[in-house]
Amino acid sequence: MSYDVEKIRSQFPVLALHDKDPKPFAFLDSTATTQKPEFVIDAMDNFYRKHYSSIKRGVYTMAAQTTDAYESARKKAAKFINAKRESEIIFTRGTTASINLAAWSYGRKFLKPGDEIVISALEHHANIVSWQLIAEERGAKIKVIPVADDGDLILEKIPELVVPGKTKIVAFTQISNTIGTENPVKEIIQTIRHIDPSIKILIDAAQSAPHKKIDVQDLDCDFLAFSGHKMYGPTGIGVLYGKYEILESMPPLEGGGEMIDQVTFEKTTFALPPERFEAGTPPIAEVIGLGAAIDWINQVGIEAMYQHEQEILKYAEEKLREIPGLHILGNPKHRGSLLSFTLDSAHPHDAATLLDEDGIAVRSGHHCAQTVMQRFCVPATIRASFGAYTQKWEIDRLVEGLLRVNRIFSL
Ligand code: ALA
Repeated sequence: MSYDVEKIRSQFPVLALHDKDPKPFAFLDSTATTQKPEFVIDAMDNFYRKHYSSIKRGVYTMAAQTTDAYESARKKAAKFINAKRESEIIFTRGTTASINLAAWSYGRKFLKPGDEIVISALEHHANIVSWQLIAEERGAKIKVIPVADDGDLILEKIPELVVPGKTKIVAFTQISNTIGTENPVKEIIQTIRHIDPSIKILIDAAQSAPHKKIDVQDLDCDFLAFSGHKMYGPTGIGVLYGKYEILESMPPLEGGGEMIDQVTFEKTTFALPPERFEAGTPPIAEVIGLGAAIDWINQVGIEAMYQHEQEILKYAEEKLREIPGLHILGNPKHRGSLLSFTLDSAHPHDAATLLDEDGIAVRSGHHCAQTVMQRFCVPATIRASFGAYTQKWEIDRLVEGLLRVNRIFSL
């Protein structure tokens, strides 16, 4: 059956509402965050209206049902990325919190002075700064896999940068939030495993989980992080996947309720993962919302969504390349569903402000990736990004808007 983008779009209240406007809203900022389908909103609304209670703390029926709903979302998340067991899924606040948890918990216990952490030149600040902070505390060093002008990582450099016995962690993104580069994750992991199988590998899947089927067992990564709000789910919820034996070796990061085994004033012992890493009352509605988002993605089909987004990407790239003075950042072999570009005529913030006057939402700025801006010698870019609901007319509106920017700024 062909992909019915109109039907899919109609399931998103914000988009459906503004599609009736004289100048319909073109939402081209799904890389920052996606809109939410009715299905997810209803799941959270139903929970608050009809079933609300805490989890794991009460024996009454509703509390038990809520615990089941919470744990069933964990099952869905495990299946979504093909984790070996549900207990490998830790709920966090989002990708940033997931990376920080891995960095602080694993890093504090296992990093020693002189150890090395390798990241890539395409990283979001979350996958740079978290490692810098722990590296500073433990006396470790950060090394960076460079990126070529086309936006692809220079993979030949990996054997020079990753040193057996010295490199302890390699952390990199599957899809860059700035250029869109889709890294050959499996190939990179195999290269690293070949150099030293004991190195721990973390994948930032914030931009890939909403678009691509992920199989952590096939990839053989040690950690993988993603967010709910970029995959049609709520904000404030994300996942850290970790191989169970690694999670089991890691100390808790936060202390509180439900992460303990026995507490005395002298000594506390801790629960097993995932509870060890989920101190306090968790974001229950958000976990239920994430579970609903996974159900929704499964209903639509992630491969069909990806194919649609790639068609939109191709259309957008062709159209944007026709605009005088527009420069698209990079030309990677495989690109996720986003394009970053600059205009000769206007600063990205000015262009985005004029686009907003036309009801066109893009992101402008450094996209939490200042090091990518430095590498490509631009102060900022305009970024148009696409999702399951993006339509070609939105790209046409963007093109008209950018031509207007050119006209205004060449006056
Ligand atoms: N990481 C998000 C973005 O790229 C916020 O816009």
